[in-house]
Amino acid sequence: MLAQTPPMGWNTWNTFGSEISESLVREVVDKFVELGLNKAGYEYIVIDDCWSELERDPVTHKLVASKEKFPSGMKALSDYVHSKGLKFGMYSCDGVRTCANYPGSFDHEYLDAATFAEFGCDFLKYDNCFKPASASGPLLYRRMGHALRNCGREILFSACNWGSDDVWSWIRSAGAHMYRSTGDIIDNFVSFRDIALSQLDRLGTSAPGCFNDMDMLTVGMFGKGHVGSSGCNEIDYKTQFSLWCLMGSPLMLGCDIRKIDSGTLALVTNPELIAINQDPEARSAFRVGSAVWNPTGIVIGKLLTGGDIALGFFNLGEERVNIFNVMFESLGVPFGSGYDLKFTDLFGGSEPSVHREMFSCSVDAHDCAVYRVSFVKR
Ligand code: GLA
Repeated sequence: MLAQTPPMGWNTWNTFGSEISESLVREVVDKFVELGLNKAGYEYIVIDDCWSELERDPVTHKLVASKEKFPSGMKALSDYVHSKGLKFGMYSCDGVRTCANYPGSFDHEYLDAATFAEFGCDFLKYDNCFKPASASGPLLYRRMGHALRNCGREILFSACNWGSDDVWSWIRSAGAHMYRSTGDIIDNFVSFRDIALSQLDRLGTSAPGCFNDMDMLTVGMFGKGHVGSSGCNEIDYKTQFSLWCLMGSPLMLGCDIRKIDSGTLALVTNPELIAINQDPEARSAFRVGSAVWNPTGIVIGKLLTGGDIALGFFNLGEERVNIFNVMFESLGVPFGSGYDLKFTDLFGGSEPSVHREMFSCSVDAHDCAVYRVSFVKR
């Protein structure tokens, strides 16, 4: 069964856009393994848009890999990815052209699914540009869903319609394992903040088998690359990664893995944060009512297997929040429960401590504090 927890991997788009090639992908794969990103849980190496020739093969009508960018062909590249113990992902679109104007899969869904299977593909990101006005988005995703489920190879279906057509209400029924719920991320604080805020009402829509994908991470890009924008700093990235972990989004890295810095590597391989995202029960997150005097503070919780709770205090505003508190009553643990709560800081800022009835911390602008919370019988 695919996607029992949020899928994890790397995608070419955020940094490289159309500047992709088999040598780039091989270099990234080698570095991935050298750095142990696979051991941390990242497994899909996904080639986004711009991988094919500009037209289909005139005789077979199949999609053909660009001879210039991928001279050895996609099967050779997927064999290489598989030889390193990783999985191979590719991209297409439900319209007649992809978003970057390469051939799309409209009315070629079954042929293309078979072609992706021949390529040794394990993951298909499926975009939503240039679809005929007469075509129903949900029906087009259902078509590709059927095609993938019957192509003879297990392929994870990553839908990307940017949250249109109330996607959360039907995409699971179309066979998708994850679905983009927003427009494209770019590498700045406002972009990821607004993506996260826009999904606070949809936390319950992520569950095993199909997860709300808040887009590829920009963590570690520092303004460089295709969606570079004005960039973020380390604090912003800590908050972005923590939001994605707690909210149960797929974790698709987007930075240049070949040049990843040690701080970014430590962040994206933080075992405690990944354990929250990859908790085996994959319960959806919930928002905890925050005190009225902290309008920019958001508290997000997630029940973990075994009884603990993950709690994130996110300051998405521009001023430090000095008294960022949560009443245990609003977590469902009133005084009468007979339990106190033990807070363990997952970024190591403070020693574990036991609290009664309420907990309070201070969080700088753009920063966050993330705790693993366990029940202590009084
Ligand atoms: C859309 C998607 C992006 C990326 C590009 C490629 O904008 O949302 O994630 O795949 O297309 O052209």
